[in-house]
Amino acid sequence: MSNTDLVISISDLHKSYGQLDVLKGVTLNAKRGEVVSLIGSSGSGKSTLLRCANLLETPQQGDIVFKGEPVAWKGAGEARRPADTSQVLRIRTNLSMVFQQFNLWSHMTILQNVMEAPHSVLGRPKEDVKMAALAYLEKVGITEKADSYPAHLSGGQQQRAAIARALCMEPEALLFDEPTSALDPELEQEVIQVIKSLAKEGRTMLIVTHDMRLAWDVSDHVVFLNKGLIEEEGAPDDVFGHPKSERLQQFLKSTLAA
Ligand SMILES: Nc1ncnc2c1ncn2[C@@H]1O[C@H](COP(=O)(O)OP(=O)(O)OP(=O)(O)O)[C@@H](O)[C@H]1O
Ligand SMILES: [Mg+2]
Repeated sequence: MSNTDLVISISDLHKSYGQLDVLKGVTLNAKRGEVVSLIGSSGSGKSTLLRCANLLETPQQGDIVFKGEPVAWKGAGEARRPADTSQVLRIRTNLSMVFQQFNLWSHMTILQNVMEAPHSVLGRPKEDVKMAALAYLEKVGITEKADSYPAHLSGGQQQRAAIARALCMEPEALLFDEPTSALDPELEQEVIQVIKSLAKEGRTMLIVTHDMRLAWDVSDHVVFLNKGLIEEEGAPDDVFGHPKSERLQQFLKSTLAA
């Protein structure tokens, strides 16, 4: 496998907030076209790992390589920061994030939300971006909501708009942080269908989810994070069907009982 087959490569990542060690040496790779799911109990560091991956947070130790390009750091420990702001922007716009709470701009229509970053941040021509945005809204099934404001959409529709917005960046990979957990069960399904169709298309995705069924169905690789360390990982059939560690067995029992 050549380096460029790896879209994201994270090695020995350490992240702490003051005295709290959240990530204690996490190594994780996502190849092109691969769907990697992160599972684990609340507080285990899943969101922190995702936020480090697209440089919303700075790890104190460890390396992050995006398509063969290592993130350049300056300083060390608490003072460590990315050295190159244009590299940060390039990586962040290539690893588009979808959040639990959608984070749409309330004063913009859905179409404007989807067009905003590709036009303003990436500087793509407005007409091109509009065509692409409409195509992505169609893909997630909410074309008729293009001119509505977020407040007038259901949660499932808002999350699908957020996915269209992420797609319109034409990113190398999509990062999802609990994309369905703010939704009622029937609205959850709308979003799950969209995520499944993206997986089928061969998109590279990192998905933090509490939905074990979704993780089992869409993932090529599942990572169980426990207290800042990877406790177990593997193919979904192994991780869910034959969990080896006692902690994972307990975790799966408790999530299935919930
Ligand atoms: N900005 C921050 N400042 C201080 N502590 C933080 C910060 N962000 C996260 N933490 C702490 O780091 C730990 C891991 O948080 P994180 O959000 O990564 O967990 P998680 O696995 O995503 O949990 P959940 O399933 O509840 O979303 C928690 O104890 C949290 O309180
Ligand atoms: Mg989280």
